[in-house]
Amino acid sequence: MIVRKFTPDDLKRVHEIESMSFDQSYGIDVFLGLYEMGVGFLVAEQDGYVIGYVIFWIKYENQGHIISIAVDRDYRRLGAGTHLLVKAISILSLLNLDTIYLEVNENNREAIEFYRQFGFKIDRIVSGYYENGDAAAVMYLHLNGGKVKSD
Ligand SMILES: CC(C)(COP(=O)(O)OP(=O)(O)OC[C@H]1O[C@@H](n2cnc3c(N)ncnc32)[C@H](O)[C@@H]1OP(=O)(O)O)[C@@H](O)C(=O)NCCC(=O)NCCS
Repeated sequence: MIVRKFTPDDLKRVHEIESMSFDQSYGIDVFLGLYEMGVGFLVAEQDGYVIGYVIFWIKYENQGHIISIAVDRDYRRLGAGTHLLVKAISILSLLNLDTIYLEVNENNREAIEFYRQFGFKIDRIVSGYYENGDAAAVMYLHLNGGKVKSD
């Protein structure tokens, strides 16, 4: 398995993975727009086949933000999500940020457990965050001089 930069040739496959992973889909145009804005956009590839992606950027100057991460359901629990998130965190860690944060549906226990493995902790719950009225858990990973803080 390798992790590499996204290219527009990956759009269809990334959109497929997103559609099977989330009830609400960003859509191809949004992925293309994010790519053109210059956000961090990586894909995991196995034997030439894209099996997952992660999108991240910097918000408020000193906070990394994980916008989206998903793995094809047929390839989950094989470490692809870990490869993608570790790479995203290591890139963001180079930028002297205070924190990396993300929003995840509070009912998405699997993803919350996944993020916990990397030290993310729930900071707060934002009710009605999603279009269907579901609440989001906002999770933070605190960094210390670019390194993951062990508190
Ligand atoms: C969350 C997601 C990206 C994880 O990807 P993955 O490739 O399956 O994750 P990994 O194989 O690297 O898992 C790493 C660890 O996270 C935890 N984990 C992952 N999936 C889990 C699950 N379904 N239940 C409990 N723990 C889980 C485990 O500790 C796992 O280690 P283990 O398999 O040795 O027990 C994937 O489940 C997914 O695409 N979900 C749908 C989209 C989504 O919810 N994205 C995140 C919200 S923004």
